[in-house]
Amino acid sequence: MNTMHRAWTKQDLRAAVAGLRGDVKFNAPLKDYTSFRIGGPADVLVMPADAEDVCLLVRQARAADIPVFVLGGTNLLVRDHGIRGIVVSLAKMKAIADEPGHVLYAEGGVGMPTLMKHATGRGLSGLEWAAGIPGTAAGCVVMNAGTKLGEMKDSVKAVRIVDPDGLIVECPASAIRFSYRRALLPRGIVVGVWVQLKPASKEKIQTTVKEYLRYRKDTQPLTLPNAGCVFKNPGHDAAGRVIEAAGFKGARIGDAQVSDKHANFVVNLGHAKAADVIALIKKIGRAVEAQTGTTLELELKIVGES
Ligand code: EPU
Repeated sequence: MNTMHRAWTKQDLRAAVAGLRGDVKFNAPLKDYTSFRIGGPADVLVMPADAEDVCLLVRQARAADIPVFVLGGTNLLVRDHGIRGIVVSLAKMKAIADEPGHVLYAEGGVGMPTLMKHATGRGLSGLEWAAGIPGTAAGCVVMNAGTKLGEMKDSVKAVRIVDPDGLIVECPASAIRFSYRRALLPRGIVVGVWVQLKPASKEKIQTTVKEYLRYRKDTQPLTLPNAGCVFKNPGHDAAGRVIEAAGFKGARIGDAQVSDKHANFVVNLGHAKAADVIALIKKIGRAVEAQTGTTLELELKIVGES
């Protein structure tokens, strides 16, 4: 375990979360909040009620000099000794608002499939790619999530951010540098996003979504806890194909296993530790590099203390 602890006390932590309207949990096991069902505790986990609550938290955490980590929870692996300081989850911020000009505003914690269904109900197209994915609106902006049908950057009109001073700022899409599974944003916490959609027939959207969900069900391990694709696709090849060719389908360390449905997924068979997952993906990376000369770059974000 990393013994480099910052010099804050429980009292400092309490001061940083005082007066919030959302939920506050001390020593919260993060395995309960990640799609991988893996991860040690957060010193304190906060689920703000709304953007103003996030502002208050940011100001108080800054005054107490306590770091704040925003938990996306899906393309994420939290190490076994968890995260020191404050962890924020936007899980309670789930409002969606209809705006003129085929625009929807979603708070950061809205699940992308929920937003996609809301859009479909209004005959709005553009988010079909997000059918069935586990990410939230804010998480998908921050990593420019996407599938073969499209990606977040195709629809983002603007984002609402709580900046490091605890102030709400709005940032147009033109000020964000999106690239493959990456977004360069102003510093702060993304608390909401406006998406620009296009009118289309509901039936057409539903057909696209149905076909795509079937494809995902056939090709991805949707019934076991996982964190989505582990590696980015290298160049024009697919990481899944390369990993399968290296002989890793079904390979296992502890309860972490390379899915036998899709080799770019690691699944948690029950009690996998972060250390097991990390050992497995290191082994894959080394073998693929040795066999093909291709260096696989992680899509999965790994955080916390081991
Ligand atoms: N393939 C294999 N073996 C495998 C898996 C895939 O040979 O074990 C081959 C497939 O046969 C296919 C090719 O690799 O020819 C591509 O596979 P797939 O269509 O499943 O797509 P992918 O490139 O592996 C991407 C995204 C996924 C997204 C799917 C479907 C990345 C890294 N992955 O996967 O996103 O769900 O397309 O749209 O961009 C994620 O980002 O977390 C994620 C899972």
